[in-house]
Amino acid sequence: MRPLLFAANWKMQVTPEETRRFAGQFLGATAPVEGRALWFFPSAVSIGAAAEAFGTRSDVRIGAQDVHWEPKGAYTGATSVPLARGAGASGALVGHSERRHVFGETDEETGKKVRALLDAGCTPFLCVGEKLEEREAGKTEEVVLRQLRAGLAGVSPGEMDGLVVAYEPVWAIGTGRNATAEDAARVHMALRAEVSRLGGTGRIPILYGGSVNLGNALGLLAQPQVDGVLVGGASLDPDGWAEIVGIGG
Ligand code: PGA
Repeated sequence: MRPLLFAANWKMQVTPEETRRFAGQFLGATAPVEGRALWFFPSAVSIGAAAEAFGTRSDVRIGAQDVHWEPKGAYTGATSVPLARGAGASGALVGHSERRHVFGETDEETGKKVRALLDAGCTPFLCVGEKLEEREAGKTEEVVLRQLRAGLAGVSPGEMDGLVVAYEPVWAIGTGRNATAEDAARVHMALRAEVSRLGGTGRIPILYGGSVNLGNALGLLAQPQVDGVLVGGASLDPDGWAEIVGIGG
């Protein structure tokens, strides 16, 4: 079975106490599956609780939802890579569409965050995705490839396999609409080709995200171009998420 990655983005939800309760229920309902890696991205305040509560499971890793590129300093409200690491994270989402479009994060900033994570030995999950008007204007590839190049601007070809890319069309996030499996596969293929063009091996894992649920996950994961899923809403219920991570396994 080819390796698959299941990532849960809990956004601004799930307290430390709820994290411990989720972990208890989820770990009771699942066992590690060969070749499957599970990542949880809780709010920064719940990273420590998640690292402790999931600590016993070798297939689970914890990440931050965002990091600052500076290791320390006067950046009120921000979380540096060393702070996230110290709490138990070994990776982070970078450039999630809510960071880009709600908080105004720029392409250039995503590149600096990717670099800071790699320098600390952490895994960046670089998120890219087009808005509805960009898709309708036929600009999907142009937008996601621009975001990809900016995120990888400071990354050497030899480091590229150490990243994860997540394709999340903005219009599909939290809306109940999602790209067809074929549409997603096409964009993943373009992203992979661009990584190869930049000198990478093209083996970089590429996840799909945006209204993934139990009903559509299998179809997406059946695409050889789709190496896993990044899931918000459907990752919040421990039993539902246990079913999704066990799908087809
Ligand atoms: P969703 O969120 O699964 O709720 O659409 C995905 C994400 O934003 O990562």
